[in-house]
Amino acid sequence: MDLQGVRHIAIIMDGNGRWAEARGMVRARGHRAGVDSVREVVTDCARAHLPWLTLYALSTENFKMRPALEVRLLMVLLKRFMINERATLMENGVRLITAGRIQEFPARVVAEIRRTEALTAGNRGMTLCLALNYGGRGEIVDAARELAREVRAGNLDPESIDEAAFAQRLYCPSMPDVDLLVRTAGDLRVSNFLLWQISYAEIFVTPMCWPDVRRPLIESALAEYARRDRRFGGVQGGGAAS
Ligand code: IPE
Ligand code: IPE
Ligand code: MG
Repeated sequence: MDLQGVRHIAIIMDGNGRWAEARGMVRARGHRAGVDSVREVVTDCARAHLPWLTLYALSTENFKMRPALEVRLLMVLLKRFMINERATLMENGVRLITAGRIQEFPARVVAEIRRTEALTAGNRGMTLCLALNYGGRGEIVDAARELAREVRAGNLDPESIDEAAFAQRLYCPSMPDVDLLVRTAGDLRVSNFLLWQISYAEIFVTPMCWPDVRRPLIESALAEYARRDRRFGGVQGGGAAS
């Protein structure tokens, strides 16, 4: 896998339900199949030495608005993933972290997540960030609230707040900006994912549903990325004004 200089891939793993429905199966089967894609993609990206992979596994809106039975199944799958994938994460030097309000999850699930985070904390390979009960607007609100607290306590001058200061209060201060944002299952929207970090991300959307995704799809996205001209507001070919 040629990373093309990409440091951070973020993926909106969508289409589990549609994948199952197209096969006459219940949505739950799609979520179960999606776990296999997660394992394969994480392992391949880690072996390719990608520094950072963020996977959108559950939005705040999903957590609030999906039927209780579906949310319960997702909690079971998440807990199982945290237990079953530990060995694979360790083998591949992956450090697991999360972004989102997981404190709202059942305590048993949070405990397994914390255990996996602690076990993998010293790994120096890829960082795998799972976005769980995550919302981009919520993350920005939480950061703003934190800044306000520091100002109120007299520890921060409002005039000193710049983009770097703001970014330091996001859920994962060390998260690099997203280079490549992948969305599966074809919808052309961001669905409240990493609103701050995707400012200049290149976007790749595939009609393929998440349970069908394997390494070749990631390689296609990277090949497409290599053909893009990232101007960051400048002119073609790069180069700042002097
Ligand atoms: C993505 O698949 C997984 C989650 C959001 C948890 P969906 O469950 O959204 O699948 P579709 O979009 O209904 O096909
Ligand atoms: C985005 O998918 C969230 C995740 C993949 C976790 P959704 O299925 O929630 O997105 P919408 O509702 O189609 O925008
Ligand atoms: Mg969906």
